Amino acid sequence: MPGIALVGTQWGDEGKGKVTHLMADGMDMVVRYSGGNNAGHTVIVGNDTFKLHLLPVGILYPNITSVIGPGVVVDPAVLLDEMDALEERGISTERLLISGNAHLIMPYHRELDRLSERRLGKYKLGTTKRGIGPAYADKATRIGIRVQDVVDQKIFVQKIETALHEKNQILTKIYGRLPMKLNQIVEEYLGYADRIEKRIVDTTPVIHAALDAGKSVLFEGAQGTMLDVDHGTYPFVTSSNPIAGGVCAGAGVGPRALDRIIGVAKAFVTRVGEGPFPSEEAGEVGERMRRLGNEYGATTNRPRRCGWFDAVIGRYAASLNSLTEMFLTKLDTVLSDFETVKICVAYEFEGDRFEDFPPHQTIFHKATPVYEELPGWRTDIGGARKWSDLPKEAQRYVERIEELVSVPITQISVGPEATETVTRLTSTPPPRAQQA
Ligand code: GDP
Ligand code: IMO
Ligand code: MG
Repeated sequence: MPGIALVGTQWGDEGKGKVTHLMADGMDMVVRYSGGNNAGHTVIVGNDTFKLHLLPVGILYPNITSVIGPGVVVDPAVLLDEMDALEERGISTERLLISGNAHLIMPYHRELDRLSERRLGKYKLGTTKRGIGPAYADKATRIGIRVQDVVDQKIFVQKIETALHEKNQILTKIYGRLPMKLNQIVEEYLGYADRIEKRIVDTTPVIHAALDAGKSVLFEGAQGTMLDVDHGTYPFVTSSNPIAGGVCAGAGVGPRALDRIIGVAKAFVTRVGEGPFPSEEAGEVGERMRRLGNEYGATTNRPRRCGWFDAVIGRYAASLNSLTEMFLTKLDTVLSDFETVKICVAYEFEGDRFEDFPPHQTIFHKATPVYEELPGWRTDIGGARKWSDLPKEAQRYVERIEELVSVPITQISVGPEATETVTRLTSTPPPRAQQA
């Protein structure tokens, strides 16, 4: 029963879309387990570009069952738009299942996300303004609306009424906005209900049945380890658990369901939104990285902040996720242009050196990166398909990251398409439990 988790190891946008597309080929099921349409997963196939926000990347394959799990927050308007857009391009969305336990993003969630960011002013988080935080907050305070609620109109109206009563107080009294109208919301959402009803199931037994039958299930991570609400750079995080542990809660499987846990890491680091980023290059170097890598958000189109590979967060991600292997992406672009390339190996703060993720946020905020500088390769490596095709400087860079993070780098991405990949180790390392 191969269960494979694929998680982002940095601040998102590591190339999970490309890697999922490659890995999903030949699999039976792809499951999104956390986040919502704050994600933007790019898949490029020839001249076709797909930017998937809510649908699992498995949807691009006709034989794969795609599952939106209980841990996801679903904006039904976005979901239906995304499905329609794919159908128009000749891609069937028939094999999509949506968990009845997933929570719905409501219009007041989006509005409160926007208003809260505006209120925070210079302390804003830089969210995607998709209503993610307010939707997860309602889930935790237990006034959320779940996908399954749409099939019972009476309960649906009651629940929205209860939630809206509170939201309208906040909208009018705190933010001085007009109240939202119950009827309008109900009418809009019941319209969506007609279209999604037949896809709503209890996805948990479906996933278990697949695993029990020996089918292969890929759990597609969204966001990244450093955006995890419990382990990331709080409060500059998202409101869910993108880490491998999040697979268990968000999809409804136990830890033993995961045979492989693949960490996707970009060969340099990017971050969208606010928050600390020790190896950031805020000046010309960062600008050059952004230009070379075309680093603009797939969801909000915001310029991504860029910097050097950070082995401290790499190690942190390796242990938090129990990574069995790493998939290093975007080695082809950006770094190929530099005379020398840097890796952040530690932080310094007030005379102390930190090789592990520091215990207090102030240290991380004010950390000075300690760099190791390696020779660059200054050549186009986009055509590399095997390890020996890579220049020795690029090989050394990969090996050095591997040494620092202590996880085998099994595959290296040298272009956005699935074929543009160097498979380094053909045999998959065994899961941790069997390694000792
Ligand atoms: P995700 O959110 O983790 O799926 O990543 P995004 O799709 O938001 O951003 C990754 C970007 O890098 C996308 O534009 C991909 O097409 C692109 N990409 C992924 N892997 C590679 C690679 O190895 N080389 C290059 N040049 N681009 C890549
Ligand atoms: P993928 O799956 C990069 C960031 C936002 C913001 C913070 C909180 O494409 O890697 P939110 O809207 O979630 O409340 O915003 O999290 N963020 C992402 N950054 N990639 C993502 O997803 C992200 N999803 C959320 O920019 O800093
Ligand atoms: Mg993205």
